[in-house]
Amino acid sequence: MSETSSGSGRPRSVRIVEVGPRDGLQNESALVPAEDKVAFIEALADAGLPVVEATSFVSPRAVPQLADADEVLPLVRRRPGVRYPVLVPNMRGMERAERAGADAVAVFTAASEAFNERNIGMTIEGSLAAFEPVLERARELGWWRRGYISTAFGCPDAGAVVPAKVVEVCVALLDLGCEEISVGDTIGVAEPDDVRRVCDRLLDRLAVETIALHLHDTRGRALDNVRAGLERHVSIYDSSAGGTGGCPFAPGAPGNLATESLCALLDGLGIEHGVDAGKVAAAATALRAELS
Ligand code: COA
Ligand code: ZN
Repeated sequence: MSETSSGSGRPRSVRIVEVGPRDGLQNESALVPAEDKVAFIEALADAGLPVVEATSFVSPRAVPQLADADEVLPLVRRRPGVRYPVLVPNMRGMERAERAGADAVAVFTAASEAFNERNIGMTIEGSLAAFEPVLERARELGWWRRGYISTAFGCPDAGAVVPAKVVEVCVALLDLGCEEISVGDTIGVAEPDDVRRVCDRLLDRLAVETIALHLHDTRGRALDNVRAGLERHVSIYDSSAGGTGGCPFAPGAPGNLATESLCALLDGLGIEHGVDAGKVAAAATALRAELS
């Protein structure tokens, strides 16, 4: 559990989950060579990021940018103590992840039926059923298990999302064996009040150490939303080096929160994060050269 600093009520330290190599690259039209992805992942781990989401074992037709996951993951020189989760939607993906030497998995569903249908062609219930054997197998293998819930603050297809639904899906993911749930503002529509409201509802049912926030900066509100999460003691935040990425299945969803901006905010608030933002920026710059 993260300690709470006296007075401010904010956590003393934050864990940053780097999603650039997955959420970033899946939204770039350029196909980055496998060795450059590997270099990007390794540079991010070298920058002190404790979790670097490496790639996705999804259908190559759905996300051609990450179709080389089977090649990329085994090439990554792992840094001790760093986790490299990979996205897995079904047992087919789990088998690929296992062969490639993964040791951490992330499953992903949504708070909105319409979005989930378009993103993975499943109902929310159907996706949870598909994850059951994935998470069971991951548990047998001793892998770290993360769950994502997209569109938790609004959906491009269905508009408003009911917080009670967010809570229901998060509880279901934890019941299936996820150790942490990343609550996503996939299209960047949340306002700080929304973050406070959803966090309050979640905290009625979930331990704060199981909640991460995955914020997009579409309307420039991501950092204000991080502050709102910090007020509610949430101490895990997803971000993307250089602010690259988004979700190609959510039109109008560019721009994850940049890891460097998150570090700067935390530095200003005196909250520890252990990341060298200069090294993150250098990694993002090197990657950008590959994208242009
Ligand atoms: N890895 C590789 N290929 C896979 C796969 C996996 N994990 N799962 C399914 N496939 C292949 C199937 O073999 C099939 O290939 P074919 O058309 O050449 O025969 C094709 O993908 C479709 O499979 P199907 O089982 O009919 O699933 P679907 O078309 O309903 O797609 C998903 C379901 C989940 C596989 C697909 O929607 C997907 O990968 N979505 C990922 C979206 C994503 O990553 N979003 C990012 C988060 S914002
Ligand atoms: Zn995202």
